[in-house]
Amino acid sequence: MSATPLKRTRPNTSKPESPAPLSFSPISRLKREFSAERNKDCAYPPGDMRPSLKRTLGFQRDPLTHLLDGYERFGPVFTLRVMSVPVVFMLGPEANHFVLVSDADKFSWREGSLGDLTPLLGDGLLTTDGRYHRRGRQIMLPAFHRDRIAMAGNVMLEEIETAVGIWEQDEQIDIYDWTRHLALRIAMRALFGFDPDGREGRTASDFEAALAYYSNDYFRQMLRGPGSPFNRLTKASARLDELIFGEIADRRSASTATNESSGDLLGMLLAATDAEDGSSLSAREIRDQVMTLLFAGHDTTTSTVTFLFHELAKKPEALAPLLEEQAAVLGDRPLTPADLTGEALPQLEMVVDEILRLYPPAWIGPRRVTQQFEFNGIKVPKGVPLSYSSWASHHLPDVWPNPEEFRPERFSSTNKPLIPKGAYVPFGGGSRTCIGMRFGQMEVRAIATAILSRWRLEGRADERVEIRQMPTLSPRDGMRMTIRARD
Ligand code: HEM
Repeated sequence: MSATPLKRTRPNTSKPESPAPLSFSPISRLKREFSAERNKDCAYPPGDMRPSLKRTLGFQRDPLTHLLDGYERFGPVFTLRVMSVPVVFMLGPEANHFVLVSDADKFSWREGSLGDLTPLLGDGLLTTDGRYHRRGRQIMLPAFHRDRIAMAGNVMLEEIETAVGIWEQDEQIDIYDWTRHLALRIAMRALFGFDPDGREGRTASDFEAALAYYSNDYFRQMLRGPGSPFNRLTKASARLDELIFGEIADRRSASTATNESSGDLLGMLLAATDAEDGSSLSAREIRDQVMTLLFAGHDTTTSTVTFLFHELAKKPEALAPLLEEQAAVLGDRPLTPADLTGEALPQLEMVVDEILRLYPPAWIGPRRVTQQFEFNGIKVPKGVPLSYSSWASHHLPDVWPNPEEFRPERFSSTNKPLIPKGAYVPFGGGSRTCIGMRFGQMEVRAIATAILSRWRLEGRADERVEIRQMPTLSPRDGMRMTIRARD
């Protein structure tokens, strides 16, 4: 019997089509969820399926408690109906590995609630899938190479020096607000080459205005019409487009070599071509990718720096090893990008790792299931929304002893290798691991080191930190601290 010859298929090297636009009509979105539930091809995993306003409001206020409760009652895969929609959650090391690495192809980012970001971000890395996403990522990866990040490190250090340089002893500061402003200035310079003090500085305020939409609760996000948050989002987004498309047009008239050597990401994207088909990115594609980086990049680092100083203020004894390390490694010389790779200051690295465990800014990874699957003996239907959550996974008591406690030693060189695969996922994982991880880590290290080398931040004794989850984890009312001289 002769074997059937294998049919050879040529790899598709043509430029991938832009993804189909998503609808933002609240009615059609609700319809889609109802249809997903009605047409499911198997039962949902066990959970709380009855509609409940109490659960919906409770989940919005405190998702961590609800997720940990779901894990305790139902195990690593369960369903909670939030608003009118049943959402499947998968938690814990094995579940994270399944969603992010081994079976990542069973999930869509765009069709999950990340697609809600398209009115602001368009079709960037966060809101696309498949070949279109892979091509974008391939073109952008060189911009996040070590050497490029080191160049961005110089911009970071310059901006940080100016921002910390004006601090005065006993001054009150909202560290969240201060870091956010600083991170946005760094992102504007490193991504767009914009002068934050010049005409383009307006980008920052327009961007903040657009972003405010995503801090609204689910109900307010559904409103449409004049004066609604959605209306303000589209107006701010149009103003941003005008600035960014203008800049792209100006830069297009410069030579490829000038763009390549500009040192910012925008220049690099203008000069880049696809390795497979030789095509370059259109103005719209570039706009969407840089907006995505601006979105994903500044709030995440802001919240990490804020919670780091919050925890150090609560546990001052954790400061001593950091200060000793700084004295030994840096002495009195100025900080350089080479000091910020992670290896040079291992004590600081342990603290940053632990902060990202306790408060992973991108706390939830929303997806839509594209094919039915089974996990841990439980079937999950095709077409339904599903999320993993780093925040909840990092608080599971069977994986992390005393999960609420700030204990940097969990990440010592002895303990870190013992952490189970998939247990610690502050930057996601697999082929879609955070592309800005090195940039973000370097920025956090740079800001923390610059502050620690001169000052001690004291928290308010009466401070009760309420956490806001949308779009990233952050203190709801900022974080007021007092600048004290270092002991
Ligand atoms: C402490 C800082 C940061 C944290 C904790 C963080 C976290 C994450 C996480 C968890 C994901 C994956 C989300 C998912 O699986 O659903 C992600 C993706 C992403 N991040 Fe970050 N991020 C940080 C900084 C940055 C920075 C500075 C940038 C850009 C300059 C950036 C750009 C992106 C992009 C573009 C993606 C999507 C990647 C893809 O799908 O290919 N992030 N980030």
